[in-house]
Amino acid sequence: MSISFPAKLTERLAAAESVCVLTGSGVSAESGVPTFRDAQTGLWAKFEPEALATMEAFQRNPSMIWDWYEWRRKLVRQAKPNAAHYALANMESLFPRFSLITQNVDGLHQAAGSQKMIEFHGNIMRTICADEGCVIEDYDASQSPPPCPRCAAYLRPDVVWFGEAIDQGSLDKAIALADECDVFFAIGTSAQVQPAAGLAEVAMQAGACVVEINPQRTVLSKRANFALHGAAGEVLPLLIETLTPALSRN
Ligand code: APR
Repeated sequence: MSISFPAKLTERLAAAESVCVLTGSGVSAESGVPTFRDAQTGLWAKFEPEALATMEAFQRNPSMIWDWYEWRRKLVRQAKPNAAHYALANMESLFPRFSLITQNVDGLHQAAGSQKMIEFHGNIMRTICADEGCVIEDYDASQSPPPCPRCAAYLRPDVVWFGEAIDQGSLDKAIALADECDVFFAIGTSAQVQPAAGLAEVAMQAGACVVEINPQRTVLSKRANFALHGAAGEVLPLLIETLTPALSRN
């Protein structure tokens, strides 16, 4: 694959003091983890979000919801980080300030070595008590859902469901990072789910250069300063390769 990046973009990046990246499920697509809204393969193409990813659904049918997350956990356990995850982990050391905010719950950014990151929507591999919210590590996995060993309430995955609030500390931090960055990337996200999608807006309002990487057009494409059309696992390594000479001169 060959992409030529606009000189204005590489100049802006080479001069950037602070870079903030928002990722979505498209970044893990090349690792075999399905996205949510892609027409043929996205998880929500087969299931209604409200039927599976809400507290109401869990209360109605806890066993079905637990089993669905177990199925997704199995997919995630088999998945390995791809070139996009590794490129983003490398980017941490390329800029004076770098932050990664992910909507993904699969832990693949950490597996690739990313450290400076916020898991905006939680982590599917972590389990919490549905009543008290505390993280539970040891439980009877033969039950669906297992009971909390402390209070006997059901356990649930530590992910943010529709209608639930993002952890306030993470939200405040993400807004501050979007507000102070020079360049904001939105990568592999359809930019439809708030409040994550609004971070690009925060960055734009604050005068950052907004760059989208996505093989498809999204609601953000028209407003972004640069919309790079391609798979994240192809575009990001090439972008870093292009930038490295300029960045190492700084
Ligand atoms: N590289 C980059 N982008 C890709 C790739 C790829 N290889 N493959 C697909 N995409 C893009 C799609 O074109 C789409 O725009 O990834 C995007 C995935 O969008 P969604 O399925 O809507 O996923 P996301 O934006 O992460 O969803 C946000 O919605 O249901 C919730 O909590 C869930 O965190 C999720 C949130």
